[in-house]
Amino acid sequence: MALLCLLLSLFSPATATVPPTASTSSNRSCISDERAALLSIKESFLDPYNRLESWQGEDCCSWWGVRCSNKTGHVIKLRLQGSTDDCLNFYGDKLGGEISYSLVSLQKLRYLDLSCNNFNWSRIPVFLGSLPSLRYLNLSYGFFYGSIPPQLGNLTNLVYLDLKPWPYNSKPCQYLYSVGLSWLSHIPSLKYLDLTCVNLRSAVHWVNEINMLPVLKVLNLKECRLVNSARSLHHSNLTALEKLDISENIFSTRIAPNWFWNVTSLTFLNIAYCSFYGPIPDEIGRITSLEQISLEQNNLNSTMIPSSFKNLCNLKVLDLVSTNTAGDIRELMKRLPNCPSNKLQELGLSANSISGTLPNWSEPLANLTILLFSNNYLTGTIPSSIWALTKLNYLDLRNNMLNGTVTEHHLGNLNNLVYLGLGNNTHLQIKISSNWIPPFKLQIVLLNSLQLGPEFPAWLRSQRSIQHLQISNASISATIPDWFWTVFSRAEFLGLAFNQISGTLPTTLEFMAARTMFLSYNRFTGTVPKFPRNLTSMHMSDNSLSGTLPSDFGAPMLEMLVLHNNSISGTIPSSLCSLKQLYILDLSGNMLTGEVPTCQEDLNPPARALAVINFNSNKLSGEFPLVLQSCPQLVFLDLSYNQFSGSLPLWIGEKYLPYLSLLRLRSNMFSGHIPMELTKIGQLQFLDLAQNKFFGTCVQGAFYDTIISYQPVSVQTKGQQLEFSVQISRVVNLDLSSNNFTGAIPQDIGALVALKSLNFSWNFLNGEIPETIGQLKQLESLDLSHNELSGEIPSSLQALNTLGTMNLSYNDLSGRIPTGNQFGSYDSSSYIGNIGLCGRPLTRDCFRNTSSEDLPGNHGDLEYKSLCLSMAIGFVFSLWVVLCLLLFKTNWRKSYFMFVDRLQKKICVNVKIR
Ligand SMILES: *[C@@H]1O[C@H](CO)[C@@H](O)[C@H](O)[C@H]1NC(C)=O
Ligand SMILES: *[C@@H]1O[C@H](CO)[C@@H](O)[C@H](O)[C@H]1NC(C)=O
Ligand SMILES: *[C@@H]1O[C@H](CO)[C@@H](O)[C@H](O)[C@H]1NC(C)=O
Ligand SMILES: *[C@@H]1O[C@H](CO)[C@@H](O)[C@H](O)[C@H]1NC(C)=O
Ligand SMILES: *[C@@H]1O[C@H](CO)[C@@H](O)[C@H](O)[C@H]1NC(C)=O
Ligand SMILES: *[C@@H]1O[C@H](CO)[C@@H](O)[C@H](O)[C@H]1NC(C)=O
Ligand SMILES: *[C@@H]1O[C@H](CO)[C@@H](O)[C@H](O)[C@H]1NC(C)=O
Repeated sequence: MALLCLLLSLFSPATATVPPTASTSSNRSCISDERAALLSIKESFLDPYNRLESWQGEDCCSWWGVRCSNKTGHVIKLRLQGSTDDCLNFYGDKLGGEISYSLVSLQKLRYLDLSCNNFNWSRIPVFLGSLPSLRYLNLSYGFFYGSIPPQLGNLTNLVYLDLKPWPYNSKPCQYLYSVGLSWLSHIPSLKYLDLTCVNLRSAVHWVNEINMLPVLKVLNLKECRLVNSARSLHHSNLTALEKLDISENIFSTRIAPNWFWNVTSLTFLNIAYCSFYGPIPDEIGRITSLEQISLEQNNLNSTMIPSSFKNLCNLKVLDLVSTNTAGDIRELMKRLPNCPSNKLQELGLSANSISGTLPNWSEPLANLTILLFSNNYLTGTIPSSIWALTKLNYLDLRNNMLNGTVTEHHLGNLNNLVYLGLGNNTHLQIKISSNWIPPFKLQIVLLNSLQLGPEFPAWLRSQRSIQHLQISNASISATIPDWFWTVFSRAEFLGLAFNQISGTLPTTLEFMAARTMFLSYNRFTGTVPKFPRNLTSMHMSDNSLSGTLPSDFGAPMLEMLVLHNNSISGTIPSSLCSLKQLYILDLSGNMLTGEVPTCQEDLNPPARALAVINFNSNKLSGEFPLVLQSCPQLVFLDLSYNQFSGSLPLWIGEKYLPYLSLLRLRSNMFSGHIPMELTKIGQLQFLDLAQNKFFGTCVQGAFYDTIISYQPVSVQTKGQQLEFSVQISRVVNLDLSSNNFTGAIPQDIGALVALKSLNFSWNFLNGEIPETIGQLKQLESLDLSHNELSGEIPSSLQALNTLGTMNLSYNDLSGRIPTGNQFGSYDSSSYIGNIGLCGRPLTRDCFRNTSSEDLPGNHGDLEYKSLCLSMAIGFVFSLWVVLCLLLFKTNWRKSYFMFVDRLQKKICVNVKIR
C-alpha cells in the first residue's frame, strides 16, 4: 500500500514551482492610487498571523509580496499565498476574509498568487476577469466554492491558471464546478491549466474546448468527474501538450481510439483509474517523447502490451499496475523499451495475470530503481539479472509462485535497497548466513509466507532502520533473540505470527515504538507485559501466555486487543474502561474469572468504539455486563461458555445496542424470560441462546434473510479478519436448543427463506412439523431431535436438496419416512426414538392401513386468518423478520407477532390459528 502511494506521488506532476520572490527593493516608490488600493485590499482580508504586517508606510513596492515594475512603478506582482506547509489545513497560517474589489485598480497586475489561503467557501470573484494584464493566476487550495466565473475568459493574456480546490471532504471534488470550458477558448496563450478536482461533469465537449488552446503544455484534469472523452479530433491544435493528467475520471469506454493517442508531443500521460477497457493501442509507440505513463487500474483485457512499446526510448516510468495485463513475462520483457541507452527507472507490473519464469535479461534495465512484479503468476527462480540491478530501491515480487533459494550472494549487490518484498512465495527459500552484514539499510521487509526459518534470521540484526517487519508464517521455529526487542524498538509494524517462536515478552516492551504487533500463533510464554505506548493493534492469540493481564495496558490508543486461546487467568482489569478507542476485544479461550468491569465511572460516557466483544470460553460470572450500555457500536457479542447468570436486562434492545448482529449466550446460566426488547434489534442476524435456563412460553428468534442482502453486515476489523467474522455475513442460523421451550413450531417458519441451520433440539416442542418447512430452500442442517413432535414427516422436506444433515430422533413422529432425493442419504440415527415411523432406513415395514390420514386432530379445526407480518429493510438491504409466538403449553390459541417496521414494507403471510 505504502508503495502504491509512493508510486502515485511519483506520478503526480511536480507541483508548480513558483519563482522565488525577486528583491523587492526598487528605486521607484509606488503609485499612490495603487497604495490606496493595496491598503483597501489589506482592510478586507482577515490576517490572524499578521502576514501583512509590513503593509504600511509610503513605499508599497517594498511591502511583503508586492512587486512593482522598475520602469513604470506599477504593481505587477502580488504573491500572497498562505504557508505552503499547511496548505490543506483549514486553520493554517493563512489570509482569510474577502478579496476587495479594489484589486481591479491594479490594472497592470501580471501575477496574482492567492493560493493556500482560506476564503471560507466564498465564490471566486467575478471581477478577477477585469485584470487584463494578468498572465499568472493561482487560486489553488483557496477554499472557494461554487461556479468558476466564465469572466475569467476575459483574461486573454493568461499563461498560467490553477484553480484546483481543496481536495478532501466526505464529498470530494464538489466544491468548484464549471458547466463547460468554452470560456477558455478566449485564452489562446494558456500554457498551464490545472483544474484538478473541479467538477466538470456537464462539460460534455471539453476536449474540443481544450483544443482551442494551441500552446497548452500542461493539462491537469484529474478527478473532474468527466464522463466522456473524444475518440478523435478533426484537427489537433494540441501540438505543444506535454503533460496530460486525466486520471480518476470515469470514462468507461475503450481506451482506443482516443484523442490523446495522437498527441505525439506528450512526455507525461496519466490515465490511471479511468475505467478504460480494451487493448492498449499500437499508436502508443508513436509518442516517442513519453517519459512517464500510468495506466494503473484500468481493465485493459489485453493479453499483452503492444510491441510498439519498444520504441519508447525516453520512458522512465511505466505503470501498468492492475491493468489486466496478461501473458508470459519473457514476451513482455521483450516488448519493453529496448534502446541503446535505456532510461527506464520505474516498472510497475503488479496485480496482473502475468505468468512464466523471469528471463535472465542483460544490460537494458540497469537503471531500474523500482521494480514491482507482485501479485502475478510468476514461477521458477529469481534470475541473477534482478540481483544485478544495483540501483534498486524497491523490489516487490510478493504473491507469485517463485521458488529456489535466495542467499547473501544474491542480495549482496543491492546497496540501495530499502524495500524488500518477497513474501507469499510459498516455495521460495531465504538462506542467509547468520553473520552476514548486508550493504543496504532496509525500511520495509515483507518476508511472510515463505521459507525463512527454522532459525531466527540473524542477518536482520543490522537492520535498525526497519519500520515495517513482516515475517509471519515463515517457518521460524526458534527462540526469539534478545536483540530483537532493541534492534526493532523503532519499528512501527512487527509481524511474527504463525511461526513457532518461543520465548517471553520482555518487560521493556512498553518502550518500543510499535503501533501494530502480530504475535499470534506462536509459542510465547510468560505473562503479558505492559504494551508500547503508541500501540493500536495487539494480536497475541494462540500462544501459551499465562498469569494475569497487566492492571494497566499502557497503550491509551489501543484499538484491537486479540488474546484468544492462551491461559490467562485472573480478572479483566478495569483499566480497559479507559480505552475509548478499543474496537475489537477478544479474550476468548482463556481462564479469566470474576465479573466484567462495570466501568461505572462513566455511565453517561462518550460512547465507546467497541464493535466486537468476544469472551467465549472463560470462567466469567456475574450478570449480563452493564458496560455494554455504553457500547452503541457493538456488532458482535459472544459471552458463550461462561458462568454468567441472572436474567437478560430489559435495556438490551434497540436503544442501547442498535447494530448488534450476532449475540451468542450459549452455555451460561442465564435464566428467566427472553426480553421482547431483543426482537427490536434491527440488525440481529445470528442468535444463539442454547444451553441456558431460559424458560417461558415465548419462542423468540431473530431471523435474517440474506437473499436480498447485497452487503451483509460483517465485522470490520481493520487489519486481519477475525475467524468468526467471516461467518457472520453468511450464517443464517437459528439455534434455540437445550432450553425449556414449549408449544409448537410456528407455521411461519417457512417465511424465513434464508435459514441455513435450524436447531430446536432438546426442548419440549410438540405438535407437528409444519409443512411450510419445505420452503426453507437454503436449509443445510435441521435438528429437531429430543422434543415431543408428532404427526408425519412433512413430504415437503423432500424438496430440500441442500439439506445435508437432518436429525428428527427421539420425538413422537409416525408414518412413512419419505424416500425421494436426499432422504436416501440419512441413516437410521436420524429417526431412532420415534415409535411410529416406518420404512427405510428403519427395519420396520409400513402397512397401508396405518396411514396418517386417519389420525385425529389433523388440519380440521384450523381456521385461517391473514396477518400481516412486517418486514424491515435495514440500511444494509437486509430483509429480516422478527417474530415471537406466544404458545400456550397445552392449547395454543393465538399467535402474536412482534415486528419492527422501518420502511412500512409489509408482506402478508397466512397464519393458522387453532
Ligand atoms: C529592471 O528590470 C529588467 C527586466 O525585468 C532588468 O533587466 C533590469 O536589470 C532592472 N533594472 C533595475 C534597475 O532593477
Ligand atoms: C467579460 O466576459 C463577459 C462574459 O464572458 C462579457 O459579457 C463581458 O463583456 C467581458 N468583459 C470585458 C471587460 O471584456
Ligand atoms: C485551434 O486553435 C485556434 C486558436 O485558439 C482556434 O481558432 C481554432 O479553432 C482551433 N482549431 C480547432 C480545430 O479547434
Ligand atoms: C490520428 O492522426 C492520424 C493522422 O496522423 C489520423 O489518421 C487519425 O484518425 C488520428 N486518430 C485520432 C484518434 O485522432
Ligand atoms: C476485451 O474487451 C472487449 C470489450 O469489452 C471484449 O469484447 C473482449 O471479449 C475482451 N477480451 C478478453 C480477452 O477478455
Ligand atoms: C541509464 O540512464 C542514463 C541516463 O538516463 C543513460 O545514459 C544510461 O545509458 C542508462 N544506462 C543503461 C544501461 O541503459
Ligand atoms: C521451481 O519451479 C519450476 C517451475 O514451476 C519447476 O520446474 C521447478 O522444478 C521448481 N524447482 C524446485 C526446486 O522446486
